[in-house]
Amino acid sequence: MTKVLGIETSCDETAAAVVADGRHVLSSVVASQVELHARFGGVVPEVASRAHVEQVDAVVGEALLEAGALDPGDVDVIAACHGPGLAGSLLVGVSAAKALAVTTGLPYVGVNHLEAHLYAAWLEEPDLEPPLAVLIVSGGHTLVVAMDDHARYRVLGQTVDDAAGEAFDKVARFLGLGYPGGPAIDRLAREGDAGAVRFPRPMLDDGLDFSFSGLKTAVVTHARREPGVATRDVAASFQEAVVDVLVAKLVAAADVARADVLVLGGGVAANSRLRARVAEVAAATGRRAFLPPLELCTDNGAMIAAAAWWRWQRDGATPLDAGIDPGLALPDAWGE
Ligand code: KG4
Ligand code: ZN
Repeated sequence: MTKVLGIETSCDETAAAVVADGRHVLSSVVASQVELHARFGGVVPEVASRAHVEQVDAVVGEALLEAGALDPGDVDVIAACHGPGLAGSLLVGVSAAKALAVTTGLPYVGVNHLEAHLYAAWLEEPDLEPPLAVLIVSGGHTLVVAMDDHARYRVLGQTVDDAAGEAFDKVARFLGLGYPGGPAIDRLAREGDAGAVRFPRPMLDDGLDFSFSGLKTAVVTHARREPGVATRDVAASFQEAVVDVLVAKLVAAADVARADVLVLGGGVAANSRLRARVAEVAAATGRRAFLPPLELCTDNGAMIAAAAWWRWQRDGATPLDAGIDPGLALPDAWGE
């Protein structure tokens, strides 16, 4: 059994976890900074990196202790997310991991955040086998991926402007629902009429890329023109438009990938309407849907430790002089 300590500090969650063999979560600790950023209406990078510095030692210590590792040398590999993400934030997790690797003599593995969202699936379903069609939807990213095999991905489509989570956050802010916006819209939409306003479904029949900035503008324009429509109806109608597009592209990606399994990852994968619709469409098309539990959708250390295990098996340790990469993309097999 190989135990990996995974550290995640790419955005506004300071998280650490110990995972055995890329599948079994022995501990997972997440210190959220949501309250720190809420009064600014979004993540403030400088505030985020400062909070990571304050939290990271305690979070790592707690993750080790919960996993029964009395000191860092009791695990086998030390991993951290090295991109994509906020530069100052990434540096904190990567520096902490390298320091532990140097003092213990253990291998260090740098992990791609997007690959980690993908490998979160194995934490719940250890026997999952590619090919899979995966929709990664978060505050920073929206992409559909054909996972043909381990470490072999084809990015079939991605957003040309805003990420899906970013659209949720911006619309929620405009509607006065606070930050983060996704959970607030999700909650309010349950009481609303999703058919109240017919918002556009951007790029619905136009390939596998996404676009959400026009939809956000459509919500703002509509709300100004017709202030009488209840906020819960606007929220439900907006959410339905986003979900329609996400579901259609995931199914189209599954056709391209020839995949019988649909997988969701990233913070927006916690959306209750998206989860219900993906489950429905899977049943209707004879596929299986894999919907990770909410705590594995949003950023966490367990997904970093899981992805690190698979990468380590394949490529070994990451050199200690490798840095961070805020703009890191998912390694794409198209170019091979
Ligand atoms: O994966 P994540 O924790 O961080 C990034 O890597 O970005 O995703 C955060 C995003 C935020 O935009 C948040 O509003 C959205 O996920 N989110 C949701 C829900 N829960 C979180 N969006 C829609 N419905 C939700 N229930
Ligand atoms: Zn994420």
